[in-house]
Amino acid sequence: MLLHTIAEVREQIRIWKKQGLTVGLVPTMGALHEGHLSLIKKSVEKCDKTVVSVFVNPIQFCPGEDFEKYPRTLDADREMAESAGVDIVFAPSAAEMYGEGHIMSNDFLTYVIPPFFYVNKLCGKSRTGHFDGVCTVVNKLFNIVQPDFAFFGEKDRQQLIIIKKMVKDLSIPTEIIPCPIVREADGLAMSSRNKYLNEQERKDALVLKNILFNIKSCYNSGIKDTEALAETAFNFLKSCHSLEYLEFRDKNDLELKKTADKDTIVFIAVKIGNVRLIDNISLEN
Ligand code: PAF
Repeated sequence: MLLHTIAEVREQIRIWKKQGLTVGLVPTMGALHEGHLSLIKKSVEKCDKTVVSVFVNPIQFCPGEDFEKYPRTLDADREMAESAGVDIVFAPSAAEMYGEGHIMSNDFLTYVIPPFFYVNKLCGKSRTGHFDGVCTVVNKLFNIVQPDFAFFGEKDRQQLIIIKKMVKDLSIPTEIIPCPIVREADGLAMSSRNKYLNEQERKDALVLKNILFNIKSCYNSGIKDTEALAETAFNFLKSCHSLEYLEFRDKNDLELKKTADKDTIVFIAVKIGNVRLIDNISLEN
C-alpha cells in the first residue's frame, strides 16, 4: 500500500506491533534500482513486515546540488517495491515531514547533528550539512516507523558508519543491517546518480572500481603502506577524471590508516563531467 502521511503509517505500525510482528525499514530517496532491491529482499526475508520510504530529503542537499533534478519515479518505485513483497511504500511530501513554509533551516527545525570527527572528512568535507540532514530524516523515519531493523547499503559507507554511531549514541532501539554494494556487470557500483552519465561518462566511470580493485589486489600481494597503495591510482586517472578523495580509513571510526589492514576501507570520490560518484572497498578477505 502507498501511504503519504505520518498518521497513516503510525496507525498501520500500531496494528502490526500489537500483533507482535517485526518491522523492517528501507529508507530511500526513490529511483529504485537493483541495489535498493537487495536491501528490500533482505528486509522481506528477515522481517514480518517491510516499509520502504521514498523521500527526496531537501535538507540533505547542499546549495547547488541536484535536489531539483534528482530522479523522481514513484510509480515505478512502488511497482518494484510491492512486487518484491514490500507492505508499505511511505512517500511523504516535504510539508508532511517538515511543515509548511521556510522552516527547513536549523533556525526553525530541530536537527540531529552527528559528531564533527565523523563528518569533517570524505563526503562531509565538500557537502557541508549533508549528514545533519541525513541523520535528522533517518531519526524522524525511525520515530515514525519504529523499525526493529533498518537496512543501509555499504555503497554510502560514511553514511552507514554515521547512522550506526547515531543509533548507538542516542540508544535507538533499531538494529542497523549493512548490505553489500551491488555492482553492474562491468563493476560500476549501482547508484541513482548513474542515470546522469552520458555514454562516454559511463565508460569513464569505471575508473572508480578499477582503482579500488587494483588497490585490493596490490594489498593482497603484500603492499600495506597506504601512500604506496594510493599512488597506484595515477595509472588509471585521465584528464576526464577529477579525483576528490582517495583515502584509507578505519571501518568503525573513520580514523586515517597509514598501514592498511583488514579493518581498512578504501574510499574514493571522482567527478566525471558534472557527476560526482563515490565508491569504496573493504580490504578484509
Ligand atoms: O542513502 C539515501 O538514499 C539517503 O541518504 C537516505 C538514507 C534515504 C536518507 O534520506
